[in-house]
Amino acid sequence: MKSGLSAAVIELALRAKYRILVAMPKTIPLCFERVSEDEMRSRSASLLKVMKARRSVRAFSSDLIPEGVIEKCLEIAGRAPNGANQQAWHFAVVKSPEVKRRIREAAEAEEREFYGSRAPQEWLDALDHLGTDAQKPFLEKAPALIAIFQKSKVVDESGEEVKVYYPKESIGLATGFLISALHQVGLATLTHTPSPMKFLTEILGRSPSEKPFLLLVVGYPAEDCEVPDITKLNLADISSTH
Ligand SMILES: Cc1cc2nc3c(=O)[nH]c(=O)nc-3n(C[C@H](O)[C@H](O)[C@H](O)COP(=O)(O)O)c2cc1C
Repeated sequence: MKSGLSAAVIELALRAKYRILVAMPKTIPLCFERVSEDEMRSRSASLLKVMKARRSVRAFSSDLIPEGVIEKCLEIAGRAPNGANQQAWHFAVVKSPEVKRRIREAAEAEEREFYGSRAPQEWLDALDHLGTDAQKPFLEKAPALIAIFQKSKVVDESGEEVKVYYPKESIGLATGFLISALHQVGLATLTHTPSPMKFLTEILGRSPSEKPFLLLVVGYPAEDCEVPDITKLNLADISSTH
């Protein structure tokens, strides 16, 4: 309350001094806790170890996810930086076996077309080492799917419909936050992009103005789950210091 008052007084004084006519943005004190250098090194090493264990999983167990866990991770996703703070995203969580079945059927129909004729040979060659095909049993087996939609318009504070800035970058960041959060709480994910994904709009009853961005499969890996033996680039290959 005290700091709120003094901020208001400062704002008034600045307005008077500089005859500021435009509205000044309302601010609040930043909540930031500085940690020691040793602690930072220790945290970064531990987090790297945790994140190195993240892999895309394509064989899921049907074990259920504890209530509330996905919802907390979605709140984390919603904290991602985003263009003009427009938060132009929607996360549709699917747990119903019937809805999951419909999504699997529609996704497999698209994927049959993709692998059978639509995909150029170059694309199929790039996917070859993953061993993926048109069969997507995990869409029914996994306990949850999260369909992520990108909004093309949002309503601003004055109730006006406005254009969205940097939608793809923003939703990509939110999805990254979500995948990271789900992994850190002990869940496995698959980033799935059946192409095209228009069937998600229809099955989930979303507005046609929202574009399906991707489908995240969430749960626990199957007991005998194996993942492709792939390598990741080294730090020197992906970064430079200037
Ligand atoms: C935008 C995007 C789309 C993807 N689409 C699919 C997909 O449709 N099916 C699939 O099996 N994996 C898909 N993946 C997962 C990638 O194949 C996987 O992330 C990559 O091979 C690296 O493996 P890792 O996640 O285990 O490190 C997708 C990943 C991204 C980022």
